[in-house]
Amino acid sequence: MTVRDEIEQLKQEKNAVILAHYYVPPEVQEIADYIGDSFYLSKAAAGLGQQTIVFCGVSFMGESAKILNPEKKVLMPDARADCAMAHMADAETIRRMREEYEDLAVVCYINSTAELKRHSDVCVTSANAVGIVKALPNRNIFFIPDRNLARFVAEQVPEKHVIFNEGFCPVHEQMSLVEVENAKAAHPDAEVLTHPECPEKLCRMSDYVGSTSGIIQYAGRSSAREFIVCTENGVRYELEKRYPEKRFYFTDTEPVCRDMKTVTLEKVLHVLKTGENEVTVSDLVRKEAKKALERMLELAR
Ligand code: 13P
Ligand code: SF4
Repeated sequence: MTVRDEIEQLKQEKNAVILAHYYVPPEVQEIADYIGDSFYLSKAAAGLGQQTIVFCGVSFMGESAKILNPEKKVLMPDARADCAMAHMADAETIRRMREEYEDLAVVCYINSTAELKRHSDVCVTSANAVGIVKALPNRNIFFIPDRNLARFVAEQVPEKHVIFNEGFCPVHEQMSLVEVENAKAAHPDAEVLTHPECPEKLCRMSDYVGSTSGIIQYAGRSSAREFIVCTENGVRYELEKRYPEKRFYFTDTEPVCRDMKTVTLEKVLHVLKTGENEVTVSDLVRKEAKKALERMLELAR
């Protein structure tokens, strides 16, 4: 039996479902029941019938699934797969900001620990951040942890006062403007599609800035036939599968999230077999963090 067959069999036996982010390796995306960006996956996780969720992604994703499904078993194929940005804010700064601004809303990018979500008013993902910040009654917004997504939101919602926090995604932050310009010189007809976790200069020269699913949808509706994609290279699999007639280029140094790439078929099989790497979130943290996640799901409806 192949590893894939074994996974399929165990999934049935254990009443399990597999969720995967677009950034995990293609062979893992292939066996997933749900593949998507962070927003799609959090919505999916909120309404699953199965008893066990195998989350092919990084720890904040598994934590969010557990917070929304406390009675279910959430397993991470690699327990060490983490998002560096998820830790780049702190409760003490949030407390100080709340003291300083009476009407403050703490808006927490879902790429954050459960502990940070717990101190926040609402979660957002890159797919819904602009709409949710717009919909909030508060004028003062402390946006954690990502300064790049915060800047993108502030530009789209000028009526709000957005206070930045100095977090960033090391993968998107390090994308080189020169390499994108080189790619553009090599493919002058290509449109540049960029994730809002990228630095300002890169967003400014882009034809489209949006979440992973936004990029995928834009590539479908655009009349262009070539694209330079400025986000993690795992998204290539879905782009090429959906639009085989179009061409997708990345920068010479391809953006790779090492943590997302630690997820393998063998590790998926292992956790299905053993039940290891179960996500746990304390009751106190879960109850408080759940409010911010549920508010996102409500406001994004
Ligand atoms: P989205 O899934 O919201 O596009 O975010 C990308 C990301 O960095 C996930 O970790
Ligand atoms: Fe975190 Fe960046 Fe990896 Fe996404 S790509 S999981 S934001 S480190």
